[in-house]
Amino acid sequence: MVHAIPVKRALVAMVALAGVAVWQAPAASASVPLKDITHRYVGSAVAASYLASEPDYRAVLTREFDNVTPENEMKWGTIEAVRGQYDWSGADAIVRYAQAHHKTVRGHTLVWHSQLPDWVAALPAGELRRVLRDHITTEVKRYKGKIRAWDVVNEIFNEDGTRRDTVFQQKLGDGFVADVFRWAHAADPSATLYINDYNIEGKNPKSDAVYDLVKTLRRQGVPIGGVGVQAHLSIQYGFPEGYQANLKRLTSLGVDVAVTEADVRIPTPPDAAKLDTQASYFDQLWDGCQAVRKCVEFTAWGFTDRHSWVPDVFPGEGAACLFDADLKPKPAYTRINP
Ligand code: XIL
Repeated sequence: MVHAIPVKRALVAMVALAGVAVWQAPAASASVPLKDITHRYVGSAVAASYLASEPDYRAVLTREFDNVTPENEMKWGTIEAVRGQYDWSGADAIVRYAQAHHKTVRGHTLVWHSQLPDWVAALPAGELRRVLRDHITTEVKRYKGKIRAWDVVNEIFNEDGTRRDTVFQQKLGDGFVADVFRWAHAADPSATLYINDYNIEGKNPKSDAVYDLVKTLRRQGVPIGGVGVQAHLSIQYGFPEGYQANLKRLTSLGVDVAVTEADVRIPTPPDAAKLDTQASYFDQLWDGCQAVRKCVEFTAWGFTDRHSWVPDVFPGEGAACLFDADLKPKPAYTRINP
């Protein structure tokens, strides 16, 4: 790892010296939590259900991270699966946890073609626009002042840099992106508003498209404040070329960048060599962010192999997180935080 300015670590030490530090259970991992070795936000996707039912999961999350991203609880399909029937329970629980434990929240996600209720997809253009505006306004206002950053649009590009053919794109056209950022900003001017996508870690046609769009939006005065690079990697495909330079060029547009969903898949079963390669990928992801001044956050898509979306979605791959299923730190964790 590369050491960043240890601002938070110094604060922790000062508190300890002042004799006001509360007793902490012996850590299963390094004695300094991940969140305290950097001045970036360090986060994980979380599920409200595990937060409520698994004290050990909750304890590691609380100790190691200072940002949480609801894994599914703020998606349209959760919030309003049936028109007019809202379920805020999971999202509320995560925001409550975050506030009680002084963690920030990354809201995820307002406009996405996936986990989108069928009733929304079926709407005619005019109504879709009104409903979309309502959805954004209602959700963003509900958590006004409690969300540091919102993933406003998620995965709007194809690999070749053309727009993905979603219902929003089909019915509302290119301009829907500027609109949704303006609506989100009106609902909570204090949140930093992001465009988020996968396979945009390195320089390629898709990250070029993101770069060009952000440049255009900024010129037009659209309130976009950040680019989220998801960083769902697999050790099978090589580490993304030009990662750090790509983060840097995005920030040259005047926006922040964040690693928003980091995980590194391993073809199962994992062994020592694969875990070592995984460690080097995580370490490169981490160091690249530390090296870019406006890379403000490093969030993993779940922290434990006990609960990860990977085995369900990528057959033959797994073990993608920093901690194993028993919540023991893996080589990837100790590489970053020795
Ligand atoms: C995934 C969740 O982890 C799963 O639980 C769910 O079944 C599907 O969505 N990119 C994103 C995330 O932006 O919202 C996705 O989360 C993973 C890929």
